[in-house]
Amino acid sequence: MTAKVIDGRKIAKNILENVAKDIKYIKSNYQIKPNITTIIIGSNPESDLYLRLRDKACNEVGIISSHLNLAEDVSEQKVIDSINELNIDEKVHGIFVQFPLPKHLAIDKIINTIDPSKDVEGFTSHNMGCMLLGEEYIIPCTPLAVLKILENEKYDVKGKDIVIVNHSNIVGKPLTALLLNRNASVSVCHIFTKNLKQYTSNAEVLITGAGVPKLITVDLVKKDAFVIDVGIVKKEDRVCGDVDFESVKDIASKITPVPGGVGPVTVACSLENMTKTINNCID
Ligand SMILES: NC(=O)c1ccc[n+]([C@@H]2O[C@H](COP(=O)([O-])OP(=O)(O)OC[C@H]3O[C@@H](n4cnc5c(N)ncnc54)[C@H](OP(=O)(O)O)[C@@H]3O)[C@@H](O)[C@H]2O)c1
Repeated sequence: MTAKVIDGRKIAKNILENVAKDIKYIKSNYQIKPNITTIIIGSNPESDLYLRLRDKACNEVGIISSHLNLAEDVSEQKVIDSINELNIDEKVHGIFVQFPLPKHLAIDKIINTIDPSKDVEGFTSHNMGCMLLGEEYIIPCTPLAVLKILENEKYDVKGKDIVIVNHSNIVGKPLTALLLNRNASVSVCHIFTKNLKQYTSNAEVLITGAGVPKLITVDLVKKDAFVIDVGIVKKEDRVCGDVDFESVKDIASKITPVPGGVGPVTVACSLENMTKTINNCID
């Protein structure tokens, strides 16, 4: 049997159609021009690509996506001051800080300066803490994209054995909380996991985001598993994920490709989060 290949672009299109309707409603009922501002510190070709995709999507649904560019060697205080100005600016309805940040900046301090009601990525301690306690409001975009993919397949995670290969603050940790909130049995693996196969080969749902091409070979996957590949690695001219797609698709029941899987859904989820922060500003 060959796995069903999930079409992330189609899921993203549906999400964006709903976002466009919400934005149209907001614009016709309130006198505001929805504006999301991204703070970009220095330059990074990989985040430039993501930003371009997000800006294009914003433009299509009627959200103004502004950039505030700061120098690579900007002081931490200057970044904090800039965020505080955006927090009180009534013309700004959501704030992003583009990752990665230069090493001299304390990421937690910077993120936690964002007003949680304008925190489009859901990375502030407040929004993360609420999620951990089961009050999900602004959910980080990549974990939200994984949930959307599962939901789109009408896959109920309750009681399922789910393995996540990633324990970062932006993917694995929030995703663990979200899946626990839905009563899945979740195992989390990372670089110190002694025997990855011992976990992955029992996973009914395997979600991987290590950023290591072909980390997940067919012998690591349970028959009929739902395999979701969050990894994005640039190899020469092309992009791939963690999963050895060609062999794993012959054993999995459902699988996301890279590109065209989690990536486009993440961009769409980012815009869905924007509608939440925009609504916060008009409530
Ligand atoms: N599709 C999307 O929309 C999207 C969005 C965000 C990120 N991504 C991609 O997802 C990947 C992860 O992003 P991130 O920001 O979470 O990166 P990260 O902070 O580097 O996290 C990578 C995770 O994988 C673990 N890991 C690395 N190599 C491993 C191995 N050989 N075996 C087991 N675990 C291993 C790491 O463990 P340690 O921390 O212990 O090293 C860490 O938990 C990247 O490829 C990134 O480009 C995709």
